[in-house]
Amino acid sequence: MDLSSILKNLIGIIDIMIVIFTPKVFFTFTILFLAVIATIIVFIVMKKKKKKYVLGAIGIEVLLTIALFFIYFSAKDFPRVYLEKDSLYQTRDNNITLKEAAEDRGIYIGFADNMKNIEKDGYSDILGKEFNAFTPENAFKWSKLLKNGEIGNYDFTKADKYVKFAEDNNLRLRGHVLIWGKGYPSQLKEKLNKVEYKEEFLRSIMREHITKVMKHFEGQVDIWDVVNEPIDLMEARLENNIFYEVLGKEYISYAFELAHKADPNAELFMNGYIGKDPQVLLNLLQELVDEGVPIHGFGLQGHIMNKAGNVKKTEEFLKQVSDMGLKVEITELDVRLRALEEIANDDIYEAQGKYFGEVLEACLRVDNFTGITCWGVSDKNTWYNSLPPYQWMKPNDPLLFDVNLNKKPAYYHIYDVLKNDIK
Ligand code: XIL
Repeated sequence: MDLSSILKNLIGIIDIMIVIFTPKVFFTFTILFLAVIATIIVFIVMKKKKKKYVLGAIGIEVLLTIALFFIYFSAKDFPRVYLEKDSLYQTRDNNITLKEAAEDRGIYIGFADNMKNIEKDGYSDILGKEFNAFTPENAFKWSKLLKNGEIGNYDFTKADKYVKFAEDNNLRLRGHVLIWGKGYPSQLKEKLNKVEYKEEFLRSIMREHITKVMKHFEGQVDIWDVVNEPIDLMEARLENNIFYEVLGKEYISYAFELAHKADPNAELFMNGYIGKDPQVLLNLLQELVDEGVPIHGFGLQGHIMNKAGNVKKTEEFLKQVSDMGLKVEITELDVRLRALEEIANDDIYEAQGKYFGEVLEACLRVDNFTGITCWGVSDKNTWYNSLPPYQWMKPNDPLLFDVNLNKKPAYYHIYDVLKNDIK
């Protein structure tokens, strides 16, 4: 590794840390860390006499670090104004459900979840009423479809339950996901390391997976995330994942060709985040379209973790994708409550609701926009609650229903935007 690639990696790591921890938190701890190192160096080179002052300084720095750690990484409590008796939300009466409002608009309103939450937390009855689309959060991922993690050894029993649930509740079911550089069976790497003809081998494994899975669900799952997250998180380029390493960017078009062959009637999406420079993703999509690769849409994730930024840029991006003749959907929307901390005045749940509304409003201005899916139903079961560091930085509360299944301002803002005239 030469100096420039070490530097590049370092900058990449800093970028990621800033995204995960916010600039304020990252820079505070970096400065404190550097101060501790500097004082230790001073301590080492100093003459005996004055060492106790330096020790004192180190002690203060360490205490400050611990205190700030608690301030930044501990749970907080925010008032739930929307539950107060005289609140706007407790006194209003919607005459139709979210699903009906979405259907009047001709779009999908969806949720993702795991069956065990739906069953255990007893909200299965609201789902078919409020939503018309469903994404199994994990059940259709490659390794979840395998018996004992063995490549080629499929067990569809669990996934079939999701199909039944979707059918019973008239929900469009989204197959998430076929090829994903961050989510594949661990056996794949081991096997690839052993074989001589890696390209051929990987192609045959991809062919088997996509064909088996799509054929199994043919007629039941009509829309698939064929490739997930092809863009690098840190740099403005495609992600150098296991598929890219062996097949180059061809792995993407190959996956779509296979998917189209397996089920010519299915709608095929690429799914993911935009990354550092939108142009990388736009170029990729344009190339696929120009080459006649069977891709029908792009699903933008939308995990808002720390900063609820301006949605104008997202709208511009989606419009450019739509202009290519592709459909666009928001596939994994969740807005951490604390991403609103800096801009909310007194009612942070209301600020969160407004943000949800703004996102949907922007999407509705895009021609080929077909739907919006939240990554979860109840705040009780959001993936952030078990994802470090957010599992400590509660409340995450990123969804439309709270832990007791009360409708939050976010629910009503989405509803109102669906009902209002946009443009
Ligand atoms: C997440 C699930 O929500 C978690 O339960 C699981 O542990 C990890 O994966 N982008 C995606 C989703 O495309 O599949 C991820 O889902 C969240 C990020």
